[in-house]
Amino acid sequence: MQALSQRRATLLFAVVLILSIAIAACAPNPSAGVLSPELGAKLVAEAANAEVEVVPTPEPLAIADMTEEQITAGLPPDFAAALAQAHPENGEKLATANGCIGCHSLDPSVQMTGPSWMDAGDHAARRVPGESPAFYLYTSITSPNAFVVDGFPQNIMPQNFSDILSEQDIADLVSYLLSQHE
Ligand code: HEC
Repeated sequence: MQALSQRRATLLFAVVLILSIAIAACAPNPSAGVLSPELGAKLVAEAANAEVEVVPTPEPLAIADMTEEQITAGLPPDFAAALAQAHPENGEKLATANGCIGCHSLDPSVQMTGPSWMDAGDHAARRVPGESPAFYLYTSITSPNAFVVDGFPQNIMPQNFSDILSEQDIADLVSYLLSQHE
């Protein structure tokens, strides 16, 4: 009787041991790739025995991180000279005197005919890939239809600012808009 229950206990122990080994063998491998957008690339690289390099998403361009040359790249030389000695405070006055602020507001929650000028410098850096923010703003004022901002109509912004404003006035306006950034 005693011997029988001992044999049973041994058998039970053996069954539990085998089951544990089997369960452990089926458990997921913790070093295997976690489901992620990079998993495919990781598996390919691992198969090729290569180092896995995850490229970080680039930060959006921002005026605060750009050099003077990057901000003003591509400008016509005359205009670049005017911008170098521009006065943003005068640009702000010109924006009122010329009715810009009738269509552009610094407050993005105020719906106006034109895009908000909040962080206008940063937006200008991102609108057209390869265009510097100063070049984009200069072009936006002198030929507004060269690039039409998504969600806004073309031909609404007056097309004649380059006729009625001096180059220095436009440079002052651009320097004022460039000063609007995070
Ligand atoms: C009658 C309305 C109106 C007036 C006045 C006006 N704009 Fe605009 N502006 C627009 C509209 C609409 C757009 C968007 C369509 C486009 O890109 O042309 C725009 C776009 C712009 C942009 C590009 C903005 C961006 O976020 O990319 C700049 C810069 C700009 N205007 C500057 C000016 C300046 C400077 C003046 C005054 C000298 C002015 N605007 C006067 C309507 C106006």
